[in-house]
Amino acid sequence: MNERLIHLLNIQKSYQHSIENLAILNNVSLTINTGESCALLGTSGSGKSTLLNILGLLDSADSGEYYFAGHDIFTATPDELAAIRNRHIGFIFQSFNLMPRLSALDNVALPLRYRNTPHNEARERALHMLVKVGLEQRAQHRPADLSGGQRQRVAIARALVGEPSLILADEPTGNLDRRTADEIMTLLLSLNQTHNVTLIVVTHDPAIAARLDRQARVDNGVVREGVACSA
Ligand SMILES: Nc1ncnc2c1ncn2[C@@H]1O[C@H](COP(=O)(O)OP(=O)(O)O)[C@@H](O)[C@H]1O
Ligand SMILES: [Mg+2]
Repeated sequence: MNERLIHLLNIQKSYQHSIENLAILNNVSLTINTGESCALLGTSGSGKSTLLNILGLLDSADSGEYYFAGHDIFTATPDELAAIRNRHIGFIFQSFNLMPRLSALDNVALPLRYRNTPHNEARERALHMLVKVGLEQRAQHRPADLSGGQRQRVAIARALVGEPSLILADEPTGNLDRRTADEIMTLLLSLNQTHNVTLIVVTHDPAIAARLDRQARVDNGVVREGVACSA
């Protein structure tokens, strides 16, 4: 329950901008245990998405140390990284990123199809996840026929269907009205608790951040933690 899932030490990341090398993350250290929920706050351009992408093995840091579920990420091969990502990490984005031509059910089943789960089993598990997010009645709808809140529920079901250890959500409520945003956070937190899935949420919204176990702020390349954090 309390085992360490994420351990980042002195992470550095910079981007080359024409002649300048722009440091984005500078000595970031962060440890997150299995089952915890953590908000990442910070102004626009502070490096929240960069950090989330490094945590999610979508991007690599320039230097430092990163251990994820006991794996040394700096020495892992690209194939190993892809395998860890597919097995352990679910992503949720502000703009939902659903496949427009697929039904809600097929969108949710997609990560299982990538793992070569048999078709019927994938659909059964996808339907089970749609029930959990309260959308079983919409299984055959395409994203265009769903509201923003419903689309994000489909995306949450898709992120969870493979039973990941970690959900990374980049401003998941950024396109939703206040009430729907609160409902989506209630759903994410209840899944965090019932599935013991670790949850990291990037948000601008201090009220949303306050609902998570921990609040960390990305500021000037470092991560600071505590109640003084606000967007
Ligand atoms: N692929 C990239 N190439 C160059 N610069 C980037 C890239 N991604 C992000 N940046 C820069 O890094 C900084 C942090 O970006 P980002 O992590 O997206 O911030 P946030 O999510 O907090 O708004 C910004 O100044 C952005 O312009
Ligand atoms: Mg961002």
